[in-house]
Amino acid sequence: MITMLRVLEHLLRTQALANRWLLRGENWLEGLALGALDHDERRLLTDRLYSYWRPAPDYAGGLFDWEQRWFEADLPIQPARVLIGGVGSGRELAWFETRRDRIVAFEPVSELLELARAASQSRQTTLLAGGYEELIADRRRELLDGWRPEPPGTLGANPTPLARVVAENAPYDAVVLGWGSFTHVVETSVRLALLRRARELCPRGPLLTSFWMRPADSVFDRGTSFSLGASLGDWLRRLRDRPQTEIENGDHFVPALGFGHRFSASEFAQLAETSDYRIIRAPRAGGGYPHATLSPKIE
Ligand SMILES: C[S@@+](CC[C@H](N)C(=O)[O-])C[C@H]1O[C@@H](n2cnc3c(N)ncnc32)[C@H](O)[C@@H]1O
Repeated sequence: MITMLRVLEHLLRTQALANRWLLRGENWLEGLALGALDHDERRLLTDRLYSYWRPAPDYAGGLFDWEQRWFEADLPIQPARVLIGGVGSGRELAWFETRRDRIVAFEPVSELLELARAASQSRQTTLLAGGYEELIADRRRELLDGWRPEPPGTLGANPTPLARVVAENAPYDAVVLGWGSFTHVVETSVRLALLRRARELCPRGPLLTSFWMRPADSVFDRGTSFSLGASLGDWLRRLRDRPQTEIENGDHFVPALGFGHRFSASEFAQLAETSDYRIIRAPRAGGGYPHATLSPKIE
């Protein structure tokens, strides 16, 4: 009996020690990844990691409870014209198709897009390759400097095929940034440009988005391992002559899901305000997956 207790005690202490070192390793790797990669590389790595991701079978077939309540409360009556970004393998798509909505949806990861294409049941659905960065690439600068909302289908120079088709189908009655996808938009300026473009594409309807949150605006102390990893990463980045992408408070790297940003409530409110939206459903940290609904400010 005593021997058994000793063995277990020994095993549990070894496990606790291993966990501590594993956590340090994770923090170091997170710092390294954030320090070493610029904006475009972060985006590419996230896409690559998502190519291995599949929705777990228990939620592959429908909406989450929180999501269904949210969609039913905040979406316009059906059928509507809906733009969905980060549609993945088409989990939400099935629900929208049963509403007979007219959908334009896009996804940057080809492996997931193929699954969405195979799952789609409606001829009214248009599925496109690309991510949020491709949606704004033709007008990114104008969407930032001295922006005033332009008419729904306004395009800039050299629009991507994605931006062109999305614009041709505008205006939309609602924009949905698919489950968690907004979190993966690296850099505040890109997130701002994206919300502003969505505001133009859907000048009267709501924008529904979900994302990771952090509890407050306080600056994280990410520890020594993170700092060591970030310093090494920064050195490697300079060696490779890549531009610097700032590590913003709230930026994270998660091995299975790539880069993501955790928003504070006030940071999200600021983004909404500067993209001419008011918040009609405020996000909350904790208690389910954080999500929010924005409505265009209309003069
Ligand atoms: C958690 S998955 C959700 C997928 C799908 N909406 C669902 O609920 O099953 C997040 C999705 O965001 C997509 N994503 C990541 N970065 C993106 C970007 N920059 N632009 C658009 N989508 C992105 C991923 O490829 C992935 O499909």
